[in-house]
Amino acid sequence: MTGTAPLIWHGETGSEAATESLARKLAGSLVPGIALLLSGDLGCGKSVFARGVLRGLGVEEAYITSPTFTLVNLYDEGRMPVAHFDLYRVTDPDELDGVGIEEYVEGAGVVIVEWPEQGAGYDFGAVLAVRLEDDPQDPDRRRITLTAEEPLSRECLHVFEQQYAPGG
Ligand SMILES: Nc1ncnc2c1ncn2[C@@H]1O[C@H](COP(=O)(O)OP(=O)(O)O)[C@@H](O)[C@H]1O
Ligand SMILES: [Mg+2]
Repeated sequence: MTGTAPLIWHGETGSEAATESLARKLAGSLVPGIALLLSGDLGCGKSVFARGVLRGLGVEEAYITSPTFTLVNLYDEGRMPVAHFDLYRVTDPDELDGVGIEEYVEGAGVVIVEWPEQGAGYDFGAVLAVRLEDDPQDPDRRRITLTAEEPLSRECLHVFEQQYAPGG
């Protein structure tokens, strides 16, 4: 066996703060070149998760906005540069040509992408996929699944798994 099966981590959070805390912890295991793809329905917590990652990387801005209208926000003050994309309003993957994603993918920092499916077919490189799902029984609960399929993202997820302790 050559270890090609995806590495998958499942978790749950019971509040916005818990999701942000989980994302902060994941930030600690990220390395340059990783693309965090955040998927899930509107309001499931993609922007909350992105904010946690940014804060975990040392971005101090009190209020981190989602780049829904600007497509990308860039942060240079943390442990490494971060390009946070929100592709919600992209209707044709060709629109990404003008956005400059290729300048950031597999670059010196981390790329965070909300609504990656809007860029269908785009190769984000070392992908660590984050899936957030609502719980129909509890409006504050989210099921979170992290999946890594290639060596760099698998290594990050492995480090995270070793270090993560819920609530810790
Ligand atoms: N466990 C949870 N994790 C994340 N967000 C939660 C949770 N429970 C409730 N929420 C709420 O869900 C909303 C998530 O919003 P947001 O992150 O902007 O979603 P998205 O970017 O996916 O559209 C916020 O209003 C947040 O308070
Ligand atoms: Mg959002």
